[in-house]
Amino acid sequence: ERSVLDQVLATRILDVLDYPKPGIVFKDITPLLGDPTAFGTVVGAMAEQVRASGATRIAGLEARGFLLAAPVALAAGVGFVPVRKAGKLPRATYREDYALEYATATIEVHRDAFVPGERVMIVDDILATGGTAVAAAKLVRDAGAVPVGLSVLMELGFLGGRERFAASAPDIGIHTL
Ligand code: PRP
Repeated sequence: ERSVLDQVLATRILDVLDYPKPGIVFKDITPLLGDPTAFGTVVGAMAEQVRASGATRIAGLEARGFLLAAPVALAAGVGFVPVRKAGKLPRATYREDYALEYATATIEVHRDAFVPGERVMIVDDILATGGTAVAAAKLVRDAGAVPVGLSVLMELGFLGGRERFAASAPDIGIHTL
C-alpha cells in the first residue's frame, strides 16, 4: 500500500550531511535494511514491478544494489545476476567503463549470465548521475539480453540521471519508489 511505503521511505532512509565529502548529502539505507517490516515493504513493491514488467532475470549492481536486488529476485521468483566492479567475477566477462566525478570506473557481467533474448530488470538503490545505470543497460545488451526496466529506491533528480538514462535508453522504463 502506497501510504505504508511512503512512511517507510520517509522514516527509514537518513540524510547524512557532508558524507563522504563536504557538501554531499548521503542517503543512508541501513535503517531500512535493519527493519524487516520496512525492508519487506520495499522488496515487495520492487518485486511487483518485476512481475509487471515480465522480466525473467534481475541484474543487481554491486554493492548496495545487491542488498535490494537479491531479495527482490527471490520475491519475484526470478534469477539474480550480479553486475560487479572490475576484477571480481571469475569467468569470461563483458566490461563497461563509465565516468565518475573525477575518475572512471568499470563494471562487468559474466558472458553467459543471461538466456539470449530474455527480459531483464536492472535493480539498484539509487539513480544519481545515471552513469552506473547506463553502463549496466549496455552490459545487459552486450550479454545478449533485453533490459526492460530500471528499478531504484531513490532518484536524485537534480543530478539528471533520469534524463541521461532516457537519452541513452529511451525504450527502458524507470521505476522509482
Ligand atoms: C552508488 C549507488 C549506485 C550509483 C549511483 O554506488 O549504489 O550504484 O552510486 O550513482 P550514479 O547514478 O552517479 O552512477 P557506488 O559506486 O557508490 O558503490 P557502492 O554501492 O559499492 O557503495
